[in-house]
Amino acid sequence: MLSDTLKKAINEQINKEFYSSYLYLAMAAHFDAQALPGFASWMKLQAAEEWSHGMKFYEYLYEVSSSVSLSSIAAPPSSFGTPGEIFEQVLAHEREVTASINRIYEAAKAEKDPKTELMLHWFITEQVEEEKNAQDILDKLRMSGNNPFGVMFLDQHVLGARKGG
Ligand SMILES: [Fe+2]
Ligand SMILES: [Fe+2]
Repeated sequence: MLSDTLKKAINEQINKEFYSSYLYLAMAAHFDAQALPGFASWMKLQAAEEWSHGMKFYEYLYEVSSSVSLSSIAAPPSSFGTPGEIFEQVLAHEREVTASINRIYEAAKAEKDPKTELMLHWFITEQVEEEKNAQDILDKLRMSGNNPFGVMFLDQHVLGARKGG
């Protein structure tokens, strides 16, 4: 069993994860159009990961005999700035997602729902990694000052080197 409050919050979180997937796919499309295949590939892997986060919440709802209700996914932006500005956006977005997960965690604690707390531990750990990854890339982009050779180096040797899974 799951309270109505937590059911609603988790369904909203599914939408946020799928929006994240869509946002990163839009960023991938931008980088593909800019001939930065390494950045595009990083974003496609990120989009797939966000989809799997949404599915993890989806499966949880059925594990606890609750139910999924899907709502419309907002359109992501269609134009983006420099790689540095994009990673500022990624970091800000991940921080919002972290805050949202923390709110669900607080609600689960307040309702004395240990199974939901436990399920959220995975996401809390994951968000630490998500923010760190975005911050690391942002730091490297700042170091390169959006210099085209620096960006091309990162495209090939850093972003393009990310493995799936
Ligand atoms: Fe996520
Ligand atoms: Fe994320």
